[in-house]
Amino acid sequence: MSWTKEDLQELVRTKLTGRLFIVVSNREPYIHVLSGDEIQCIVPASGLTVALDPVMCACGCVWVAHGSGSADRQTVDDKNHVLVPPDKSCYTLRRIWLTKEEEEGYYLGFSNEALWPLCHIAYTPPNFDEFNWNFYKNVNQIFADAVVEEVGDGPAFVFIQDYHLALLSRLIKARSPQIITAQFWHIPWPNPEAFRICPWGEEILDGLLGNDILGFHIKYHCDNFLETVRLMLESRVDYETAEVSRGGKKTLVRPFPISVDFNRIARDAAQAEVSEEMEEIRRKWQLSDEFIGIGIDRLDYTKGIPHRFRALDKFFAKYPEYQGRVVFFQLGEPSRIHIKKYRELNAEIDGLVEEINWKYQTDCWKPIIYLREHLSPATLMAFNRLANFCVVSSLHDGMNLVAKEFVSSRVDEDGVLILSRFTGAARELTEALLINPYAIDDFAESIKKAIEMPAEQRKAKMKKLRQVVEENNIYRWAANVISELATLGL
Ligand code: G6P
Repeated sequence: MSWTKEDLQELVRTKLTGRLFIVVSNREPYIHVLSGDEIQCIVPASGLTVALDPVMCACGCVWVAHGSGSADRQTVDDKNHVLVPPDKSCYTLRRIWLTKEEEEGYYLGFSNEALWPLCHIAYTPPNFDEFNWNFYKNVNQIFADAVVEEVGDGPAFVFIQDYHLALLSRLIKARSPQIITAQFWHIPWPNPEAFRICPWGEEILDGLLGNDILGFHIKYHCDNFLETVRLMLESRVDYETAEVSRGGKKTLVRPFPISVDFNRIARDAAQAEVSEEMEEIRRKWQLSDEFIGIGIDRLDYTKGIPHRFRALDKFFAKYPEYQGRVVFFQLGEPSRIHIKKYRELNAEIDGLVEEINWKYQTDCWKPIIYLREHLSPATLMAFNRLANFCVVSSLHDGMNLVAKEFVSSRVDEDGVLILSRFTGAARELTEALLINPYAIDDFAESIKKAIEMPAEQRKAKMKKLRQVVEENNIYRWAANVISELATLGL
């Protein structure tokens, strides 16, 4: 059975009776920005916010997040509230404000220069700086104050998101012990050897164990977490029930593989607007019968973008008959550009695109078209629909929702997904062409295989992939978290 928005609403009504449902994350789901004299509302490139927005539309009250847009302050009321989505007004977004120093220390410095590389095994060393760690602690307190203010004295279920807020549950409960918290860690949890280099590892583990439930995408990450706790913290770890007891309090550790709103994506993909956009892309890039490949990523060093370009290079060199017949669109939204590693990645990608295009291009063909900009949902959808193959080559990824969006959008049951084995998604999407992005020669062979796959085989595979995502959709994910909470005797 596929879960629907209505099923989730019913579950919330019966299981969370009388409790406020509050989501907290660093990134906000809608950002208001100034564009000339106009205010525009944009949806950020974040799997987390895209996944949780439909859940909030189904059953949420308030989403607390950092207001990072240039017109965010102009669009809130005196309680720092704004109703979103802009066209539907389903729930309240409560924005919190950070100074530039706080944002640098907590978001760029500790969350993204320390925790992000610590948890992703992508061979980028974390940078641990006590100054940033202190900001991280202070900003977690700012979030806690906002949550407590939103909740008041009543009962509430606070659903905390991701690695930016590892200390939040304890800070909330210190002020309002009646609040139940669950936290979902959207990125991988590494093995204990990798994690133990963090100088504040114990504080982070202790902070996370303030939650009643702690979720990861896959069991492997749960096991890594349990093992890390066992080795680093005074506590009792029960592997059988996947529970940790510390200071007389229990935390359940569970896998909840996140997903997308399959039905909505499928519906949107079939809209006339998307077909028009597909025509527009064909016209603009003068496409005729070339094979089209796509990569859609936030420009992050964990996504293996240089690896996919090297594989394309190998592919064109080894199979020259495909020169002129394959066009690869890399769509990438710049990300965290104030961090040096991300600027270096941008330069590396620019260099590779330039080098490969220069090597193979002709007067009327370029192998790689690189669009580094924010594209509308309709345009992204059109690329998903146009593609003969989609490449997701992450070096390490908690889940990867680009893969699930591609599959959901293929209402025509066509298209091939080339997917890194090192994503959480690879555990479910086993009908994809699974690759090791570091093995460039095999990767190049997979591109050839994708292009040459017979139509019946493509269809059979895509059908199965779609069944998996349709069944394990975002409503089921949220329902699983809420049902698990219900077992706590709420
Ligand atoms: C990952 C993280 C999210 C984050 C997203 C975008 O998916 O798990 O928490 O929102 O990247 O990154 P950004 O730093 O722009 O929010």
